[in-house]
Amino acid sequence: MIHRFNTIDSTNTYAKKLAAEGAPQGTVIVANCQTGGRGRMGRNFFSPADTGLYMSMVLRPNCDTAKLMHLTCAVAVAACDAIETCTGLRPGIKWINDIVYQGKKLGGILTELGFNGTALDYAVVGIGINCNHSQKDFPSELQPMAASLSMVTGNPIDREKLETALINSLAKMADTLQTDKDVMLERYRANCITLGQDICVVQADTLRHAKALDVDQDGRLLIQLPDGTIEAVSSGEASVRGMYGYL
Ligand code: BTN
Repeated sequence: MIHRFNTIDSTNTYAKKLAAEGAPQGTVIVANCQTGGRGRMGRNFFSPADTGLYMSMVLRPNCDTAKLMHLTCAVAVAACDAIETCTGLRPGIKWINDIVYQGKKLGGILTELGFNGTALDYAVVGIGINCNHSQKDFPSELQPMAASLSMVTGNPIDREKLETALINSLAKMADTLQTDKDVMLERYRANCITLGQDICVVQADTLRHAKALDVDQDGRLLIQLPDGTIEAVSSGEASVRGMYGYL
């Protein structure tokens, strides 16, 4: 079932409410505008009316949390697949959840889990994609790093078509989440523009320089520190950026 809103605070917040009330796997929430769109690490996601695709889907994976660590990677690949189906353009992924193209952010993914006691009850995956924004539509602080699909393709984006493609690719992703994990992770690595780069790893109050080497089976980023040590950083506690800017 698809729940449609013109304006909502956050499709993820609403999806979590529906999921806690028992909504089945595949329940979708789409909004034309979000007043409190949320991103990873407590950030906001700019969600103006009539221009973007803001969608959340309820999933009910029949496994424990340990088997879901790669979920955000799988959603990122599904989002790239949907964008490619609609526009012919294959974006990149900045670890772990940013959809990017030519150095700019086109969208992002927010995965949230709900528990029944200690058992996993549901996962909500939220995807925001900038579709028809022009550069001046973004707040000035976002302008250097944000872009929309219409800006990078030169064509207006049919948001309904993209919505359908995204629902289809998410449904396929959910069906194959455990069976096709290795194939999906190979596709994620091939799309991930962070790998091989010199990056800054931001964790709590610390910032460290490192080289991004690989993404492991749980979606953690394997980094090499200047002293040669190799470490796995998890998306729950770290974000990365390039040495000299967003990418
Ligand atoms: C990020 O950039 O860190 C993730 C952004 C995720 C935004 C989407 S828009 C639909 C869904 N509802 C939200 O509040 N957030 C996600």
